[in-house]
Amino acid sequence: MKAAKTFQSPDHHHITSSTFLKIIILSFLSLSLLLFLLFSHFDPQLQLPSFSSPTTTAATATATAIPISNALPPDAFAPLPPPKAVQRTGIVDENGLMTDDFVVGEFDPSVIESVVNNGATNRRRKWRVRFGKFMVCDESMTEYIPCLDNVKAISSFNSTERGDKYERHCPQKGKGLNCLVPRPKGYTLHIPWPKSRDEVWFNNVPHMRLVEDKGGQNWISRKNDKFIFPGGGTQFIHGADQYLDQISNMVPGIAFGQNTRVALDVGCGVASFGAYLLSRNVTTLSIAPKDVHENQIQFALERGVPAMVAVFATHRLLYPSQAFDLIHCSSCNINWARDDGILLLEVNRMLRAGGHFVWAAQSVYEHEDNSQEQWEEMENLSWRICWELIKREGYIAIWRKPLNNNCYVNRHPQLQPPICEANDDPDDVWYVSLKACITPLPENGYGANVTIWPTRLHYPPDRLLTIKMDAYNSRKEIFRAESKYWNDLVNGYVNAFNWKDLHLRNVMDMKAGYGGFAAALHDYGIDCWVMNVVPLSGFNTLPVIYDRGLVGVMHDWYGQCTFSTSG
Ligand SMILES: *[C@@H]1O[C@H](CO)[C@@H](O)[C@H](O)[C@H]1NC(C)=O
Ligand SMILES: *[C@@H]1O[C@H](CO)[C@@H](O)[C@H](O)[C@H]1NC(C)=O
Ligand SMILES: *[C@@H]1O[C@H](CO)[C@@H](O)[C@H](O)[C@H]1NC(C)=O
Ligand SMILES: *[C@@H]1O[C@H](CO)[C@@H](O)[C@H](O)[C@H]1NC(C)=O
Repeated sequence: MKAAKTFQSPDHHHITSSTFLKIIILSFLSLSLLLFLLFSHFDPQLQLPSFSSPTTTAATATATAIPISNALPPDAFAPLPPPKAVQRTGIVDENGLMTDDFVVGEFDPSVIESVVNNGATNRRRKWRVRFGKFMVCDESMTEYIPCLDNVKAISSFNSTERGDKYERHCPQKGKGLNCLVPRPKGYTLHIPWPKSRDEVWFNNVPHMRLVEDKGGQNWISRKNDKFIFPGGGTQFIHGADQYLDQISNMVPGIAFGQNTRVALDVGCGVASFGAYLLSRNVTTLSIAPKDVHENQIQFALERGVPAMVAVFATHRLLYPSQAFDLIHCSSCNINWARDDGILLLEVNRMLRAGGHFVWAAQSVYEHEDNSQEQWEEMENLSWRICWELIKREGYIAIWRKPLNNNCYVNRHPQLQPPICEANDDPDDVWYVSLKACITPLPENGYGANVTIWPTRLHYPPDRLLTIKMDAYNSRKEIFRAESKYWNDLVNGYVNAFNWKDLHLRNVMDMKAGYGGFAAALHDYGIDCWVMNVVPLSGFNTLPVIYDRGLVGVMHDWYGQCTFSTSG
């Protein structure tokens, strides 16, 4: 950047030799910066202290942890101790302190000997294993997802009524995938965002079924070597923009991009709803099961729209309580009232206090017997769970979840569904069965009052204080430390590695912490979205990620994968 300035400076109309020298010096400086960043990335002192679980083994602790209490003042009000000399290299000892008191190069010769000997006797078998590891799977498996395409498990389900067929069924240990998932034949580097919102290469997602089924509804069509997305959907054949305007006009409080920042689109099709909300500063996570419509999610990801495979069936979705400011279902074919309303109660869990549920369906509008009955069921159920029907217009009905527990407390005690038991942790989502009960809001009002976007991205939210983690007083400091750490690193990535030229679009942070990496990418104007994955093995920071206006999901990296391939 500085070098560019030198060129533009009015005193230097010609590139003089001294300018040239400057440029060389500056280049050298940026190279050193680059090297510095490269090394600081692996510097344990810069490594963030907060997300090592207390149960990590000695080996991993060495790699990641220095305890928070040593890095930051434990109490914001206590006088600051004099700064200690910073030890930048070394290893972490058993007391969690950085030390350079260790020996390099010493080893137990008998261990080496046994390894070498074993290798000699098993040399043949070893080679075979190696080749097996790098085999490419059959061409038909370009979109294979281990836990969702477990044919054997799926075939044991007789009906699709409850959708459990489409949930995770991971292969048994040792029976997992042992080959590399290939790219589709004729794969071409994806069309960059924002053009990809409207067109993608046919060869990258070569499925015609949606075009045949939904072409008339303006979802998707094929033109030569591309798919075209005109932006329509079953309930919005005239395009998503007009539909979004209608929703905004119906309920001005929704205020896309301010009050409503994070949305969930259920049964998203090719994700045009989410794709068009992006330009209104709303991040929408689009979800659909991997069912008869081939993999709709693959289209969404190819377009560069936040999406993942997920299904309302028998288990909680992998998002925390009060995650979404708005949840949308347009002809999503889900029977919300089945089994005592168990699915709408899951929506209720994930909906933020004061958040909106938008339902666009035939039954909102039609008065035939079947539709009428469905509407009455929905009206009845939503009333029983204290949602307020704010507006019903055409095919669209919009409800609002209460801001606090007053309505629940004042309900008739016999009214169904009941309030969930006090020991039910609403953020506990990994393989937790759905329950037909109302998740109450926290008594302290946490989650109900997030600041508007974009302020909330940089504001440590209330729910930071309720995460179960091994730091008590210093959480806000850790939050700020993480922000600063990722800002520094991303600054380097942008300026030294030219990340702006990479056209990053679908990004995954495999261990997201508080979402500092995603926030930094936003601040540096990288036009991408980040799937913030919070591993099961660490602290559940998902409520904080969502409160900041980012999206994320719980996952177990040691288990098996649910993510779609074109990430
Ligand atoms: C499916 O049906 C078969 C026979 O009708 C039965 O034995 C089996 O338990 C059923 N499977 C499930 C998951 O219900
Ligand atoms: C989206 O946010 C950016 C700042 O982050 C702002 O400049 C822009 O005007 C916003 N767009 C809309 C449609 O609100
Ligand atoms: C709502 O549904 C419940 C149970 O299905 C029923 O007992 C009740 O009469 C219904 N209430 C209204 C107002 O329709
Ligand atoms: C939300 O925050 C604002 C400003 O911080 C405050 O005035 C208001 O009372 C809060 N509302 C609730 C419900 O906590």
